[in-house]
Amino acid sequence: MKLLEKAALHWDQMAARPDDRLILRWWESPTLRKLVDENWWRATGAGNAGEYIRRRTGRDSLGLGMSIGCGTAEDEILLLKHGILDRLILCDISNEQLDRAMIFAQEQYIDVNRIIRLNYVDLSKNYHEPLDLIYWRHSLHHMFDTRATIEWCRENLTANGAIYCNDACPPNYMQWDETVLDWVELYRNSLPTDYLVSPFDRSTLMSSRLTPPGIEHWKAIDPTECADSAGIIPAIQDLAPKAHIAFLGGCIYALALEDIINNFDEKDEPMLRNAMRLDHFMAEAGMNFYFACVINRDDFL
Ligand SMILES: C[S@@+](CC[C@H](N)C(=O)[O-])C[C@H]1O[C@@H](n2cnc3c(N)ncnc32)[C@H](O)[C@@H]1O
Repeated sequence: MKLLEKAALHWDQMAARPDDRLILRWWESPTLRKLVDENWWRATGAGNAGEYIRRRTGRDSLGLGMSIGCGTAEDEILLLKHGILDRLILCDISNEQLDRAMIFAQEQYIDVNRIIRLNYVDLSKNYHEPLDLIYWRHSLHHMFDTRATIEWCRENLTANGAIYCNDACPPNYMQWDETVLDWVELYRNSLPTDYLVSPFDRSTLMSSRLTPPGIEHWKAIDPTECADSAGIIPAIQDLAPKAHIAFLGGCIYALALEDIINNFDEKDEPMLRNAMRLDHFMAEAGMNFYFACVINRDDFL
Protein backbone atom coordinates (compact mmCIF):
# COMPACT_ATOMS: atom_id res chain seq x y z
CA MET A 1 0.00 0.00 0.00
CA LYS A 2 1.31 3.45 -0.82
CA LEU A 3 2.46 5.47 2.20
CA LEU A 4 -0.17 8.23 1.99
CA GLU A 5 -2.97 5.71 1.36
CA LYS A 6 -1.93 3.86 4.49
CA ALA A 7 -1.86 7.13 6.47
CA ALA A 8 -5.28 8.16 5.07
CA LEU A 9 -6.79 4.85 6.18
CA HIS A 10 -5.36 5.38 9.67
CA TRP A 11 -6.84 8.91 9.91
CA ASP A 12 -10.20 7.76 8.53
CA GLN A 13 -10.30 5.22 11.36
CA MET A 14 -9.21 7.81 13.95
CA ALA A 15 -12.02 10.16 12.89
CA ALA A 16 -14.60 7.38 13.15
CA ARG A 17 -13.62 6.29 16.72
CA PRO A 18 -16.41 6.33 19.31
CA ASP A 19 -16.42 9.32 21.69
CA ASP A 20 -16.62 7.30 24.92
CA ARG A 21 -12.94 6.36 24.98
CA LEU A 22 -10.64 6.13 28.02
CA ILE A 23 -8.82 9.33 28.97
CA LEU A 24 -5.25 8.57 27.88
CA ARG A 25 -3.86 11.83 26.44
CA TRP A 26 -3.44 15.36 27.83
CA TRP A 27 -6.15 16.86 25.63
CA GLU A 28 -8.66 14.28 26.83
CA SER A 29 -8.26 15.27 30.50
CA PRO A 30 -10.15 18.55 31.22
CA THR A 31 -7.90 19.27 34.24
CA LEU A 32 -4.62 18.84 32.36
CA ARG A 33 -6.00 20.45 29.20
CA LYS A 34 -6.74 23.61 31.19
CA LEU A 35 -3.11 23.76 32.42
CA VAL A 36 -1.70 23.09 28.96
CA ASP A 37 -3.90 25.87 27.55
CA GLU A 38 -2.58 28.24 30.24
CA ASN A 39 0.95 27.25 29.20
CA TRP A 40 0.09 28.03 25.55
CA TRP A 41 -1.24 31.46 26.50
CA ARG A 42 1.87 32.26 28.55
CA ALA A 43 4.23 31.13 25.80
CA THR A 44 2.46 32.80 22.87
CA GLY A 45 0.98 35.84 24.62
CA ALA A 46 -2.34 35.08 22.93
CA GLY A 47 -5.59 33.40 23.96
CA ASN A 48 -6.16 31.50 20.73
CA ALA A 49 -4.85 30.97 17.20
CA GLY A 50 -6.75 33.94 15.75
CA GLU A 51 -5.45 36.38 18.34
CA TYR A 52 -1.90 35.04 17.87
CA ILE A 53 -2.13 35.43 14.08
CA ARG A 54 -3.53 38.97 14.37
CA ARG A 55 -0.90 40.03 16.89
CA ARG A 56 2.07 38.58 15.01
CA THR A 57 1.00 39.68 11.53
CA GLY A 58 -0.31 43.07 12.67
CA ARG A 59 -3.34 42.38 10.41
CA ASP A 60 -6.98 42.18 11.40
CA SER A 61 -8.06 39.99 8.52
CA LEU A 62 -6.33 37.84 5.94
CA GLY A 63 -7.52 36.66 2.52
CA LEU A 64 -7.13 33.08 1.34
CA GLY A 65 -5.89 30.51 3.85
CA MET A 66 -4.86 26.90 3.37
CA SER A 67 -4.82 24.35 6.17
CA ILE A 68 -2.83 21.23 5.28
CA GLY A 69 -3.59 18.12 7.32
CA CYS A 70 -6.59 20.03 8.62
CA GLY A 71 -8.42 17.10 10.26
CA THR A 72 -11.78 18.34 11.49
CA ALA A 73 -10.50 21.93 11.17
CA GLU A 74 -12.54 23.47 13.97
CA ASP A 75 -10.00 26.21 14.73
CA GLU A 76 -9.60 27.21 11.09
CA ILE A 77 -13.36 27.28 10.52
CA LEU A 78 -13.66 29.61 13.50
CA LEU A 79 -11.11 31.90 11.79
CA LEU A 80 -13.65 32.19 8.94
CA LYS A 81 -16.48 32.76 11.38
CA HIS A 82 -14.59 35.53 13.21
CA GLY A 83 -13.55 37.32 10.03
CA ILE A 84 -9.83 36.59 10.46
CA LEU A 85 -9.88 34.68 7.15
CA ASP A 86 -11.89 35.39 4.05
CA ARG A 87 -11.68 32.00 2.30
CA LEU A 88 -10.16 28.66 3.33
CA ILE A 89 -8.78 25.65 1.52
CA LEU A 90 -9.18 22.57 3.68
CA CYS A 91 -6.72 19.86 2.70
CA ASP A 92 -6.54 16.39 4.22
CA ILE A 93 -5.78 12.96 2.81
CA SER A 94 -8.58 11.55 5.01
CA ASN A 95 -12.08 11.98 3.58
CA GLU A 96 -13.61 11.02 6.89
CA GLN A 97 -11.83 13.98 8.55
CA LEU A 98 -12.88 16.34 5.75
CA ASP A 99 -16.50 15.18 6.01
CA ARG A 100 -16.46 16.07 9.70
CA ALA A 101 -14.88 19.45 8.96
CA MET A 102 -17.64 20.24 6.47
CA ILE A 103 -20.31 19.26 9.01
CA PHE A 104 -18.68 21.57 11.58
CA ALA A 105 -18.62 24.42 9.02
CA GLN A 106 -22.36 23.90 8.39
CA GLU A 107 -23.05 23.93 12.13
CA GLN A 108 -21.24 27.28 12.30
CA TYR A 109 -23.38 28.65 9.41
CA ILE A 110 -20.32 29.23 7.21
CA ASP A 111 -21.14 29.90 3.55
CA VAL A 112 -19.79 26.80 1.75
CA ASN A 113 -18.55 29.01 -1.10
CA ARG A 114 -15.85 30.25 1.30
CA ILE A 115 -14.39 26.72 1.60
CA ILE A 116 -12.47 24.66 -0.96
CA ARG A 117 -12.05 20.97 -0.18
CA LEU A 118 -8.83 19.25 -1.28
CA ASN A 119 -7.46 15.76 -0.69
CA TYR A 120 -3.93 16.48 -1.70
CA VAL A 121 -1.70 19.44 -2.42
CA ASP A 122 1.36 18.79 -4.56
CA LEU A 123 4.28 20.38 -2.71
CA SER A 124 6.60 19.90 -5.69
CA LYS A 125 4.93 22.76 -7.55
CA ASN A 126 3.40 26.10 -6.67
CA TYR A 127 -0.29 26.38 -5.88
CA HIS A 128 -2.15 28.28 -8.60
CA GLU A 129 -3.04 31.17 -6.29
CA PRO A 130 -0.88 32.92 -3.65
CA LEU A 131 -1.88 32.13 -0.07
CA ASP A 132 -2.31 34.74 2.66
CA LEU A 133 -2.16 32.20 5.50
CA ILE A 134 -0.78 28.68 5.58
CA TYR A 135 -2.06 26.90 8.64
CA TRP A 136 -0.41 23.94 10.37
CA ARG A 137 -1.95 22.43 13.45
CA HIS A 138 -0.36 19.16 14.47
CA SER A 139 0.20 18.32 10.82
CA LEU A 140 3.55 19.79 9.73
CA HIS A 141 5.23 16.93 11.58
CA HIS A 142 3.42 14.53 9.20
CA MET A 143 5.32 15.86 6.18
CA PHE A 144 8.13 13.69 4.81
CA ASP A 145 10.51 16.62 4.19
CA THR A 146 9.70 19.42 6.60
CA ARG A 147 12.35 21.86 5.37
CA ALA A 148 11.15 21.53 1.77
CA THR A 149 7.59 22.03 3.02
CA ILE A 150 8.52 25.29 4.79
CA GLU A 151 10.31 26.43 1.62
CA TRP A 152 7.14 25.63 -0.36
CA CYS A 153 5.16 27.74 2.10
CA ARG A 154 7.56 30.65 1.63
CA GLU A 155 7.22 30.42 -2.15
CA ASN A 156 3.43 30.32 -1.99
CA LEU A 157 2.78 33.21 0.41
CA THR A 158 1.50 36.62 -0.58
CA ALA A 159 3.95 39.50 0.08
CA ASN A 160 2.50 40.08 3.57
CA GLY A 161 1.23 36.55 4.15
CA ALA A 162 2.12 34.33 7.10
CA ILE A 163 2.52 30.74 8.21
CA TYR A 164 0.89 29.65 11.47
CA CYS A 165 2.27 26.58 13.23
CA ASN A 166 1.01 24.91 16.37
CA ASP A 167 2.80 21.64 15.99
CA ALA A 168 5.11 18.92 17.26
CA CYS A 169 8.91 18.92 17.00
CA PRO A 170 10.02 15.61 18.64
CA PRO A 171 12.86 13.44 17.33
CA ASN A 172 11.87 11.63 14.13
CA TYR A 173 9.41 8.82 14.82
CA MET A 174 9.55 9.93 18.49
CA GLN A 175 12.84 8.17 19.17
CA TRP A 176 13.42 10.13 22.41
CA ASP A 177 16.97 10.28 23.70
CA GLU A 178 18.15 8.84 27.04
CA THR A 179 18.21 12.28 28.75
CA VAL A 180 14.51 12.86 28.09
CA LEU A 181 13.69 9.28 29.06
CA ASP A 182 15.70 9.69 32.30
CA TRP A 183 13.71 12.83 33.29
CA VAL A 184 10.44 11.12 32.39
CA GLU A 185 11.43 8.13 34.54
CA LEU A 186 12.42 10.41 37.43
CA TYR A 187 9.00 12.07 37.28
CA ARG A 188 7.02 8.81 37.05
CA ASN A 189 9.08 7.33 39.90
CA SER A 190 8.14 10.30 42.07
CA LEU A 191 4.42 9.47 41.80
CA PRO A 192 2.55 7.41 44.41
CA THR A 193 2.13 3.88 43.06
CA ASP A 194 -1.63 4.29 42.47
CA TYR A 195 -0.91 6.79 39.73
CA LEU A 196 1.01 4.19 37.73
CA VAL A 197 -1.92 1.75 37.54
CA SER A 198 -2.43 0.66 33.96
CA PRO A 199 -5.72 1.94 32.49
CA PHE A 200 -5.77 -1.18 30.28
CA ASP A 201 -5.46 -3.71 33.12
CA ARG A 202 -5.98 -2.17 36.53
CA SER A 203 -4.29 -5.09 38.29
CA THR A 204 -0.93 -4.09 36.82
CA LEU A 205 1.38 -1.09 37.09
CA MET A 206 2.91 0.73 34.16
CA SER A 207 6.68 0.98 34.09
CA SER A 208 8.35 4.21 35.20
CA ARG A 209 10.82 3.87 32.37
CA LEU A 210 9.30 4.40 28.93
CA THR A 211 10.44 2.26 26.02
CA PRO A 212 9.38 4.18 22.91
CA PRO A 213 8.06 1.99 20.10
CA GLY A 214 10.59 1.65 17.28
CA ILE A 215 10.49 3.30 13.87
CA GLU A 216 8.97 0.21 12.25
CA HIS A 217 6.00 0.39 14.63
CA TRP A 218 5.13 3.91 13.43
CA LYS A 219 5.73 3.04 9.82
CA ALA A 220 3.28 0.14 10.13
CA ILE A 221 0.55 2.31 11.73
CA ASP A 222 1.03 5.70 10.05
CA PRO A 223 4.22 6.19 8.03
CA THR A 224 3.78 9.98 8.18
CA GLU A 225 3.92 10.11 12.00
CA CYS A 226 6.87 12.36 12.93
CA ALA A 227 8.55 11.30 9.69
CA ASP A 228 10.82 14.39 9.70
CA SER A 229 9.71 16.28 12.81
CA ALA A 230 13.27 16.85 14.04
CA GLY A 231 13.94 18.99 10.98
CA ILE A 232 11.24 21.60 11.68
CA ILE A 233 12.93 23.89 14.23
CA PRO A 234 16.35 23.95 12.52
CA ALA A 235 14.63 24.75 9.20
CA ILE A 236 12.63 27.66 10.68
CA GLN A 237 15.71 29.02 12.46
CA ASP A 238 17.75 28.78 9.29
CA LEU A 239 15.20 30.02 6.74
CA ALA A 240 13.35 32.60 8.84
CA PRO A 241 15.68 33.63 11.68
CA LYS A 242 13.53 36.63 12.65
CA ALA A 243 10.54 34.41 13.47
CA HIS A 244 9.81 34.04 17.18
CA ILE A 245 9.32 30.42 18.21
CA ALA A 246 7.27 29.74 21.36
CA PHE A 247 8.44 26.45 22.85
CA LEU A 248 5.59 24.63 24.55
CA GLY A 249 7.32 21.77 26.39
CA GLY A 250 5.33 18.56 26.48
CA CYS A 251 7.89 15.99 27.63
CA ILE A 252 6.01 15.64 30.91
CA TYR A 253 2.39 16.50 30.03
CA ALA A 254 2.39 14.58 26.75
CA LEU A 255 5.04 11.92 27.22
CA ALA A 256 5.40 11.13 30.94
CA LEU A 257 1.65 11.40 31.57
CA GLU A 258 0.61 9.44 28.49
CA ASP A 259 -1.91 6.73 29.51
CA ILE A 260 -1.42 7.31 33.27
CA ILE A 261 -3.27 10.64 33.02
CA ASN A 262 -6.24 8.26 33.34
CA ASN A 263 -5.42 8.01 37.07
CA PHE A 264 -5.70 11.76 37.76
CA ASP A 265 -8.87 13.71 38.37
CA GLU A 266 -9.83 17.28 39.35
CA LYS A 267 -8.56 16.92 42.91
CA ASP A 268 -5.09 16.22 41.49
CA GLU A 269 -4.77 19.64 39.90
CA PRO A 270 -1.99 20.72 42.36
CA MET A 271 0.02 17.60 41.40
CA LEU A 272 -0.49 18.36 37.73
CA ARG A 273 0.61 21.96 38.29
CA ASN A 274 3.88 20.57 39.68
CA ALA A 275 4.16 18.33 36.62
CA MET A 276 3.79 21.45 34.46
CA ARG A 277 6.60 23.15 36.42
CA LEU A 278 8.98 20.30 35.65
CA ASP A 279 7.75 20.36 32.05
CA HIS A 280 8.60 24.06 31.89
CA PHE A 281 12.16 23.50 33.20
CA MET A 282 12.68 20.77 30.62
CA ALA A 283 11.40 23.10 27.89
CA GLU A 284 13.84 25.78 29.05
CA ALA A 285 16.61 23.19 28.84
CA GLY A 286 15.67 22.47 25.20
CA MET A 287 13.51 19.37 25.67
CA ASN A 288 10.34 20.10 23.74
CA PHE A 289 7.56 18.05 22.21
CA TYR A 290 5.58 21.05 20.92
CA PHE A 291 6.06 24.59 19.65
CA ALA A 292 4.04 27.42 18.13
CA CYS A 293 5.02 30.28 15.86
CA VAL A 294 3.75 32.68 13.26
CA ILE A 295 6.26 33.23 10.46
CA ASN A 296 5.66 36.36 8.41
CA ARG A 297 6.78 36.39 4.78
CA ASP A 298 9.38 39.03 5.63
CA ASP A 299 10.81 36.94 8.50
CA PHE A 300 12.39 34.84 5.75
CA LEU A 301 15.90 35.70 4.58
C1 LIG B 1 -2.50 14.73 13.95
S1 LIG B 1 -3.71 14.99 12.72
C2 LIG B 1 -4.05 16.72 12.94
C3 LIG B 1 -5.41 17.11 12.46
C4 LIG B 1 -5.82 18.54 12.78
N1 LIG B 1 -4.97 19.52 12.13
C5 LIG B 1 -5.86 18.76 14.27
O1 LIG B 1 -5.10 19.60 14.78
O2 LIG B 1 -6.67 18.12 14.95
C6 LIG B 1 -2.77 14.96 11.22
C7 LIG B 1 -3.62 15.09 9.97
O3 LIG B 1 -2.75 15.21 8.83
C8 LIG B 1 -3.31 14.50 7.75
N2 LIG B 1 -2.23 14.28 6.78
C9 LIG B 1 -1.11 13.52 6.91
N3 LIG B 1 -0.32 13.64 5.83
C10 LIG B 1 -0.95 14.51 4.97
C11 LIG B 1 -0.63 15.04 3.70
N4 LIG B 1 0.50 14.74 3.03
N5 LIG B 1 -1.50 15.91 3.12
C12 LIG B 1 -2.64 16.26 3.76
N6 LIG B 1 -3.01 15.78 4.98
C13 LIG B 1 -2.16 14.93 5.58
C14 LIG B 1 -3.94 13.27 8.39
O4 LIG B 1 -4.94 12.68 7.61
C15 LIG B 1 -4.49 13.86 9.70
O5 LIG B 1 -5.85 14.27 9.55
